[in-house]
Amino acid sequence: MKAAAVYPGKRTIGLVDVDEPKIVLANDVKIRILRVGVCGTDREICSFEYGTPPDGSEFLVLGHESLGEVVEVGPDVSDLKPGDLVVPMVRRPCAHPECLACRSGRQDFCYTGDFTERGIKQRYGFMTELVVDERQYMNHVPSELRDIAILTEPLTIAEKALIEVLQIQQRLPWGCPTPGQSTQYCHKAVVLGAGPVGLLGAMTLVNAGFQTWVYSRDREPSAGASVVTSIGAKYISSQDKSVDRLAAEVGNIDLVYEAVGASQFAFDVLRGLGVNGLFVFTGVPGHNAPVSIDTSLIMRNMVLKNQGLLGSVNAGRDAFEAAIRDLASFNRKWPDAVRSLITGHFPLDQFETPIASHDGIKNVIEIAA
Ligand code: BGC
Ligand code: ZN
Repeated sequence: MKAAAVYPGKRTIGLVDVDEPKIVLANDVKIRILRVGVCGTDREICSFEYGTPPDGSEFLVLGHESLGEVVEVGPDVSDLKPGDLVVPMVRRPCAHPECLACRSGRQDFCYTGDFTERGIKQRYGFMTELVVDERQYMNHVPSELRDIAILTEPLTIAEKALIEVLQIQQRLPWGCPTPGQSTQYCHKAVVLGAGPVGLLGAMTLVNAGFQTWVYSRDREPSAGASVVTSIGAKYISSQDKSVDRLAAEVGNIDLVYEAVGASQFAFDVLRGLGVNGLFVFTGVPGHNAPVSIDTSLIMRNMVLKNQGLLGSVNAGRDAFEAAIRDLASFNRKWPDAVRSLITGHFPLDQFETPIASHDGIKNVIEIAA
């Protein structure tokens, strides 16, 4: 069976032949991969800056954003059947008995760093024809979401962040007024970046009732900006408005959801965070030269305005389930906008094209129909 792989040692990428996986455990599920999404993490892995093959293997099979169709289940699996659609999770627990997070099924909060990730860290990914994994790592997707369910994994990043934000904000009175009571205070969010993670984040926040702005580099018109306006959010180019003007326009910024991985830009916007505001980082910047920031201003604001700064990586089952529910709701509210996020389709033997050049919003590798 064919698979797309990276050889970090040889610094090459290409198609490899791998054995067809078999059901081994009673709770195993075998899926045919339909599509795999390509993201910045894949690009980094293919420039040999990130990513680790499994022990004893020279190569890593790529792909962590996937959609599959069940073809066979082990004897203990009663709630999935052939033909069902599933999105597998990415991260698998570490083996340390003392890792409370992994031992509780929350490997997205793994303490030891010895977790593995399919397609990223020491486990083969999904850019291949067939995959076997355990039932507890599969999320069932309703069949009407077939053409957009490949967005589930990148959407989980926003869903995990939102779950955390809502938990943290239980520290203060944080309820939205009933519509019509317009004098009351409600929540305003700024999303940094108009790539797939940013746009899916904007959809999540609008859907959750946040008045939402997307602040990003490109000037309008752009594909990203038109998605933003079509879901009822506002788009602002950072080339046209400084952070101070952004903050003046928005008012009290309750939440910044960062999805660019550009640290200087992010810390610049942190200055504009409002009273009781939270700032969530989801981007992973490269190793760049240090920049100077006004740490006293940031610290003063954080204390005097009760602010919180949070980083969030990967996602648990709750975020996958929320992503699948929200995709169904995006599909009802904004069927065209959500589809317009998927801009490129490539066959498996051309997987290198969307990795080499980053065009459009979300590019996908089509493996089976
Ligand atoms: C994936 C996450 C993963 C992270 C770090 C992201 O692209 O979506 O699942 O945890 O990379 O490896
Ligand atoms: Zn990704």
